[in-house]
Amino acid sequence: MPPGPDNSADATKSGRNQGNGGTMDTALIEMRGLTKYFGGFCAVRDVSFSVARGEVVGFLGPNGAGKSTTMKMLAGFMTPSSGSASIEGHDVLRDGLAARRALGYLPEGAPAYGEMSVEAFLEFVARIRRVGPDAVRRALALTSLDSVRLQPIETLSKGFKRRVGLAQALLHDPATLVMDEPTDGLDPNQKFEVRALIRAMAPRKAILISTHLLEEVEAICTRAVVIARGVIVADCTPAELAARHPSGRLDDVFRALTEAEAA
Ligand SMILES: Nc1ncnc2c1ncn2[C@@H]1O[C@H](COP(=O)(O)OP(=O)(O)OP(=O)(O)O)[C@@H](O)[C@H]1O
Ligand SMILES: [Mg+2]
Repeated sequence: MPPGPDNSADATKSGRNQGNGGTMDTALIEMRGLTKYFGGFCAVRDVSFSVARGEVVGFLGPNGAGKSTTMKMLAGFMTPSSGSASIEGHDVLRDGLAARRALGYLPEGAPAYGEMSVEAFLEFVARIRRVGPDAVRRALALTSLDSVRLQPIETLSKGFKRRVGLAQALLHDPATLVMDEPTDGLDPNQKFEVRALIRAMAPRKAILISTHLLEEVEAICTRAVVIARGVIVADCTPAELAARHPSGRLDDVFRALTEAEAA
């Protein structure tokens, strides 16, 4: 079962980030040889890594590298061609329902039912997730959506729509979160808020985020996994990654790793 309600809103305001709080242990996300072919094209090849409670893993890679495809396989949205993955010990294929119950997933683009109001949509997800109205209020507050809660989702700006996606991912307070570009389309203030929220939640959760923002990796990630053309080319701390280039800059390392792979 997911842990009980948290006080992340308060923790977020204080900008708390005190590491793993002694809880970094069990791998809540595990991938073993995850592979996906689209016809003859291999989009994800033999990907294996895990994410433990207390970790925020940044999943980096150029456009088309295979980040979203990997995440869709974790979320049970796409069937792997081979390999396996589990969420909190539940195999995503053999025990898919339990795996999806355990997971909070923010898909790319965050699709939602446009004609529903923010609140109605979250209440709908809450019924599916079997959580009560408190969870909806908490998710609205965590994602700063209170002011638009009665507005149809299709009339929201891009950043607000993204936050609705974030709210549904957090609704059941899952211990495992997979978020595909969670700060994509957010203004600088909202990026700051969402990063603070992720930091505040981190000690109690295993979090995998994809991002193109290297400063985000430095700001919130305890580990960085780089994928290029479907293959993992680095898995280490952001500091270790940065140290791989004489400049000590992540963008230089990223370019060297992913261009070398593409050559
Ligand atoms: N349903 C599909 N059918 C065919 N090819 C696909 C499908 N989904 C993804 N691909 C291909 O798989 C590769 C990986 O795509 P993916 O969306 O995982 O990349 P990504 O790393 O998330 O990129 P981005 O940074 O642009 O979001 C791409 O070449 C993409 O065109
Ligand atoms: Mg993607």
